[in-house]
Amino acid sequence: MSKTYDVGLGNNDSDLRKKANSDFVSFWGKQAKNLTWFSSWSQTLDWDPPFAKWFVGGKINASYNALDVHQNTKANKPAILWEGENEDSRILTYGDMFTQVQKLSNVLKSLGVQNGDRVTIYLPMIPELPITMLACARIGAIHTVVFSGFSSTSIKDRIIDSKSKIVITADGGYRRGKIVKLKEVIDDAIQDCDFVQHVVVVERTKNAILMNSRDKLWNNLMKNISDSCDAEKLDSTHPLYILYTSGTTGKPKGVLHGTGGYLTHLYSTFKWAFDIKDSDVFFCTADIGWVTGHSYVVYAPLLHGATQIMYEGAPDFPNASRIWNILEKYGVTIFYTTPTALRMFMKFGDDIPNSFDLSSLRLLGTVGEPINPEVWKWYFKTIGKEKCPIVDTWWQTETGGMMISPLPGLETIPLKPGSGTRAIPGVNIAVVDDDGHELSSNTKGYLVIRNPWPGMLLTLWNDDEKYASVYWSKYKNCYYPGDYALKDDDGYFWLLGRADDVLKVAGHRIGTAELESCIVSHDDVAESAVCGIPDDVKGEVIIAFVVLKHGITKDSDILENEIVDKIRSNIGAIATPKQIYFVSKLPKTRSGKIMRRLLKSIGNNEQIGDISTLEDGTAVTEVQTAFNEIQKAVKDKL
Ligand code: WTA
Repeated sequence: MSKTYDVGLGNNDSDLRKKANSDFVSFWGKQAKNLTWFSSWSQTLDWDPPFAKWFVGGKINASYNALDVHQNTKANKPAILWEGENEDSRILTYGDMFTQVQKLSNVLKSLGVQNGDRVTIYLPMIPELPITMLACARIGAIHTVVFSGFSSTSIKDRIIDSKSKIVITADGGYRRGKIVKLKEVIDDAIQDCDFVQHVVVVERTKNAILMNSRDKLWNNLMKNISDSCDAEKLDSTHPLYILYTSGTTGKPKGVLHGTGGYLTHLYSTFKWAFDIKDSDVFFCTADIGWVTGHSYVVYAPLLHGATQIMYEGAPDFPNASRIWNILEKYGVTIFYTTPTALRMFMKFGDDIPNSFDLSSLRLLGTVGEPINPEVWKWYFKTIGKEKCPIVDTWWQTETGGMMISPLPGLETIPLKPGSGTRAIPGVNIAVVDDDGHELSSNTKGYLVIRNPWPGMLLTLWNDDEKYASVYWSKYKNCYYPGDYALKDDDGYFWLLGRADDVLKVAGHRIGTAELESCIVSHDDVAESAVCGIPDDVKGEVIIAFVVLKHGITKDSDILENEIVDKIRSNIGAIATPKQIYFVSKLPKTRSGKIMRRLLKSIGNNEQIGDISTLEDGTAVTEVQTAFNEIQKAVKDKL
């Protein structure tokens, strides 16, 4: 039995859970009224499995709810306290954001962007990024943000898949003191994309860039344009954005989110988990290129009229004090980060955070990966000084917002390090076996979500079939997230990592199939298998097993460099394997499935013993030989 931590904020609204349990549809209908609607809905939920439509007939606009609604009371309140990696700083009030967003909306219109068009955004963490997203939302365009660490090939695939008319980028971005030349990456990506009509360039780093005929400078476009643009009255189900994420298939999936349901989910969870108050200074370290940044940097804080920090650079640049420095400087009250960042901070030692005044903190959060109990305890003690609840929030790109989390803004329950506690109100989550039967407590199984929820993805962009098969085919009318979990005797959920072929490296989602197909695209490679092995900072790191084509005699160091270059240019640096092993064959079952679980054990230098009993119908001797060779290759590199 793990020790519990009774630390809360004094909130106890048990009635809300009761209402949610008795009728989740009308419960969410009530929550949706916290937003401003142009006209109300006629049907709260239209559930035609696996497609859910929330607040059907209602008219709403995300940009209006993030900005217009605050103009009477908060025009002078800072929305974004921005800090550049090089210590530049900018303050944007709700009034400033309102002006900039309306101007950019008019710019987009003048460039021919219409309701429903897609706009690709490839920007560093600068205020122009949320401004662009909100301008798209204002006129009904669908934004598709691509993380600024992705390579030109990844961007190209995403631009082609979404058929974006316009791309918004910057000359460059700062990362660890160096300039990342983003405009060059875009030039490379869109060479053959004639359907891209314009590229808008924000000047951030002022490095020299090539301006082609379709390129326009942000500052020029924003100069003589009206600062008034009414928000479009959009259907609640109008698509707000596409965000590509990795899955078990070779290509990233375009997760499509809607408006009314998504915003309702964010408004509610931000209030319940973070207990947000007008006086708070919120800081989420996520890059907006990922879903945490979309939901809890851009939309949720702005819906609440909150003040937040937006930081451009690496958390340990120029040194290990950077984040604590920001916390002290701005008097941050709520801090939301990842277990990977915390493990790194913990390694730097306690003296660093202890030399800063962190007394403004009142609530802490984590997201993205399981948090080790010892890291949780360090966070609680060294950063939160034993007075701040920690919200360990489980959710996914597809869920839109938090699904399992302690909710100190709503109720006080004992916390257990490493557990996300319970599902949020109005969401029905269970742990089941392969046949979909609910498991008894303390038994590992698959997490499932048994009802639709408002933040749920609408579908996958242009691929309803894949949407149905990836998420809704394993269990009838139940959403399958692909995570292992168990529920303990107190009904608390413990998330136990991915159950599918998706890796989580430093909190980033990487599909093994995507990476393998990239490695195999190298001319000398015949086959490849990648898997993740535990790492004490990144949670998991990638190792790759590579079989070369017959007769290749190239030096393995050269090959390794070539493969790494290929991964960097096709996907991005985040997918670089820690180790590449060249072997002559991969262990497979008779049906041709790579025995990844065993590869993982070997990569982790664990003894796997006799494998003859492990997989039915396998060519045992052949596999054993492959394993012996692999085991040797791993040992040789140690
Ligand atoms: C994992 C990130 C344990 C999980 C918001 C999920 C977590 C995947 C947690 C989604 C957590 C996220 N504890 N595991 N608190 N939060 N995960 O789409 O495996 O980048 O399925 O969304 O991250 O990753 P994604």
